[in-house]
Amino acid sequence: MSSKTSKFQPVLDEIVATLRPQLGQGGKVASYIPALARVDARQFGIALRTCEGEEAGAGDFETPFSIQSVSKLFTLTLAMQRMGDALWERIGREPSGNPFNSLVQLENEQGKPRNPFINAGAIAVADRLVSQARASGGSAKTDILALMSSLCGEPIAFDDEVARSEADTGFRNIALANFMKSFGKIDNDVETVLDTYFNQCALRMSCRQLARAAAFLCRDGAHPIDGEPEVTGERQTRRINALMLTCGTYDAAGDVAFSIGLPCKSGVGGGIVAVVPDRLTLCVWSPALDATGNSLLGMKALELFVTRTGLSVF
Ligand code: DON
Repeated sequence: MSSKTSKFQPVLDEIVATLRPQLGQGGKVASYIPALARVDARQFGIALRTCEGEEAGAGDFETPFSIQSVSKLFTLTLAMQRMGDALWERIGREPSGNPFNSLVQLENEQGKPRNPFINAGAIAVADRLVSQARASGGSAKTDILALMSSLCGEPIAFDDEVARSEADTGFRNIALANFMKSFGKIDNDVETVLDTYFNQCALRMSCRQLARAAAFLCRDGAHPIDGEPEVTGERQTRRINALMLTCGTYDAAGDVAFSIGLPCKSGVGGGIVAVVPDRLTLCVWSPALDATGNSLLGMKALELFVTRTGLSVF
């Protein structure tokens, strides 16, 4: 690892030693996306990056995985960068209290998703990114790859097989996008918007890369690598962290705030990014999920980290 090793390295080693014996016991790998169903559940990695740029990692922290809904954090960042407050005309900021792919609230709320982290919200964000990119003759997928590669300081790519697998089986997402379109809440053609969404979910990254990419969130928006250019302003960064805390883990958000007390964003690939403002960002990964769609060992790892270090926003 090129950056200086953080003093937290022994904590991460201890967490891996504690949790490794539990690998393969409980939880289920997401099976509704065929390409994810084949992932070996007995993997666990953890990495962090401090505000000072020190890094630490343990277990399978260099293994790339499908980041899935963790990508929603970065597309939201991109949309906030580009659109500022106009974004909130189309998307709410309240916890949904429902599963991430639920259709029920959308009808009552005239096609305006509750928040940018449920699937409907992230599809609406993708629509905004497609509009922004088209206005300058570009592509939202290219913009997403450029952001991720810049944040990590190394090339990041989509996993074409996972993106295809999602497109082939994403009936609920297709329904959500069409439903929003019927309310006039999606401006672009549904196919292009969903192609953007399926590909962002299919980004392949390791814990080390994700902890680094998210590091602007613990640095008031400063770019993870050299501080510049600023990724988001201080106020916008605070807002992203607030949304992660209240909406980042779906209907488990209350429990996560209670037991971990950190802004988190999870994905069904088993990754979770967590932020300790002004200190560090963490990424944990283990593919077996609990009933709410969050990584079972990932959540245990975050709880152990907070208990061991006393780092929490509360
Ligand atoms: O849209 C889907 O169902 C997946 N591509 C992403 C879902 C996801 O990761 C939700 N997170 N827990």
